[in-house]
Amino acid sequence: MGLFLSGLLIFSIVLCNSWVGQGQILDILKYGAKGDGYSDDTKAFEEAWKDLCKANRSTATLLVPAGHTFLVRQTRFEGPCKSPRVYIQIFGTILAPTREAWGAPCDKRWLSFYGIPGLTVNGSGTINGQGQDWWANALLFERCDNLQISGLTHINGPAFHMHVVHSKDVSISNASIHSPLGSHNTDGIDLTNSIRVSIRDSIIGTGDDCIAIKGGSQFISINNVTCGPGHGISVGSLGEDGQEEFVEHVSVTNCIFNGADSATKIKTWPGGKGYAKNITFQNISINQTNYPVFIDQHYMHTPEQNDALKVSNITFSNIYGTCIDENAVVLDCAKIGCDNITLKQINITSIDPKKPASAICNNAHGKTIDIVSPLVPCLSIKRHLYLG
Ligand SMILES: *[C@@H]1O[C@H](CO)[C@@H](O)[C@H](O)[C@H]1NC(C)=O
Ligand SMILES: *[C@@H]1O[C@H](CO)[C@@H](O)[C@H](O)[C@H]1NC(C)=O
Ligand SMILES: *[C@@H]1O[C@H](CO)[C@@H](O)[C@H](O)[C@H]1NC(C)=O
Ligand SMILES: *[C@@H]1O[C@H](CO)[C@@H](O)[C@H](O)[C@H]1NC(C)=O
Ligand SMILES: *[C@@H]1O[C@H](CO)[C@@H](O)[C@H](O)[C@H]1NC(C)=O
Ligand SMILES: *[C@@H]1O[C@H](CO)[C@@H](O)[C@H](O)[C@H]1NC(C)=O
Ligand SMILES: *[C@@H]1O[C@H](CO)[C@@H](O)[C@H](O)[C@H]1NC(C)=O
Ligand SMILES: *[C@@H]1O[C@H](CO)[C@@H](O)[C@H](O)[C@H]1NC(C)=O
Ligand SMILES: *[C@@H]1O[C@H](CO)[C@@H](O)[C@H](O)[C@H]1NC(C)=O
Ligand SMILES: *[C@@H]1O[C@H](CO)[C@@H](O)[C@H](O)[C@H]1NC(C)=O
Repeated sequence: MGLFLSGLLIFSIVLCNSWVGQGQILDILKYGAKGDGYSDDTKAFEEAWKDLCKANRSTATLLVPAGHTFLVRQTRFEGPCKSPRVYIQIFGTILAPTREAWGAPCDKRWLSFYGIPGLTVNGSGTINGQGQDWWANALLFERCDNLQISGLTHINGPAFHMHVVHSKDVSISNASIHSPLGSHNTDGIDLTNSIRVSIRDSIIGTGDDCIAIKGGSQFISINNVTCGPGHGISVGSLGEDGQEEFVEHVSVTNCIFNGADSATKIKTWPGGKGYAKNITFQNISINQTNYPVFIDQHYMHTPEQNDALKVSNITFSNIYGTCIDENAVVLDCAKIGCDNITLKQINITSIDPKKPASAICNNAHGKTIDIVSPLVPCLSIKRHLYLG
């Protein structure tokens, strides 16, 4: 009995020690992590994850403290966890192995999170992918419904900095993503097969797309994102290798493209099937990009084929600023045509006086409303008093 009681007492003390405030804090340093930037701390993360994932309290938090750099190899954090809310707070730096240290058969992911509903990852820390020009997702979130990510800085991803796949009700905010201009395939955020995703209040500068909205994505809202360098905010590419894919219900609002290669675009491969529809780009400021308004149904200069995705119900509204040559508005649609393309209040001027801004259309149908400059003669003009 005495033994049992003192056992219980020790048990309670151990428990109390690991509870701070109202939540249980699982500090990675307590799991043997060195945090010196070169010791391998992978094991500590795996152990801490196990405890976090089986924690009863919804307030348990895996803490990556400030002032340390944790080297972590390829790791898969897997759910389901016991609690409906799972918190990871990162204030320090998490560092990927170098390319040489990664080993030969390069799996395309560094830190992956699989099947964890209710995951929150936040803090003011840094995720350092330590590399470019090799293909791996820095953070892959797969089947993580109700995912929330905020505050973090993501640098030098080996490819995509964040990839959200098969997840619903996702919020990514206040992110800061940086990879060098020209680094290959370093997309900022990619979405695939995900529904109701909001990305907002973020700054993204990468070597490839700032944000790419890929097949199976619906109800995507992007607000107050600054992109540059980078290849803009893209829907697609869709329909590669004859795939059937769709994207619908996307709104991109209040975004700035500065130092970016291009800005707003929808890109599909000839030979693909499916559709892209109900997509709006609104209040977009552009400084010196190529192709600021771009529908590209011949992605990578691929020639027309029998099949093509159907692009319809697309609005570009209140888009203003400068492009670097004449290609201000390019609506290059497949033979089946893009339907109901609306351009409203556009004013894009070229910085090259020898190449004034102009528009190119192939198979594009729709209308322009209010002032649209350059003129887009392939679309009909709708004025308020003349509905023709
Ligand atoms: C966790 O909750 C379960 C079910 O409510 C309970 O049986 C178990 O004792 C709890 N474990 C801890 C460590 O609190
Ligand atoms: C992280 O998220 C938790 C839960 O929503 C919140 O309590 C905490 O304040 C957030 N921390 C930071 C640094 O954003
Ligand atoms: C954004 O994140 C930084 C830390 O990276 C934090 O200091 C700041 O309070 C956050 N802002 C908002 C509005 O959450
Ligand atoms: C837009 O995002 C930036 C961070 O990139 C933030 O500082 C600013 O407060 C946001 N603006 C609004 C209106 O929320
Ligand atoms: C179009 O997409 C928006 C989200 O951007 C959504 O709110 C709206 O319901 C969609 N419209 C239709 C007709 O589905
Ligand atoms: C348009 O977007 C800019 C940021 O690009 C923002 O400062 C401005 O408030 C937005 N305007 C409206 C009407 O939302
Ligand atoms: C526009 O881009 C040019 C070239 O990158 C740069 O020099 C200029 O400062 C930018 N303008 C603004 C307002 O940021
Ligand atoms: C385009 O939008 C209208 C109105 O929201 C809707 O009735 C129509 O079905 C949409 N077209 C397509 C192809 O989704
Ligand atoms: C055209 O697309 C816009 C935006 O998606 C939608 O509001 C409008 O109802 C559509 N019109 C038709 C005739 O489909
Ligand atoms: C477009 O913007 C330029 C530069 O700001 C301005 O000089 C011009 O008047 C604007 N054009 C229209 C049609 O508003």
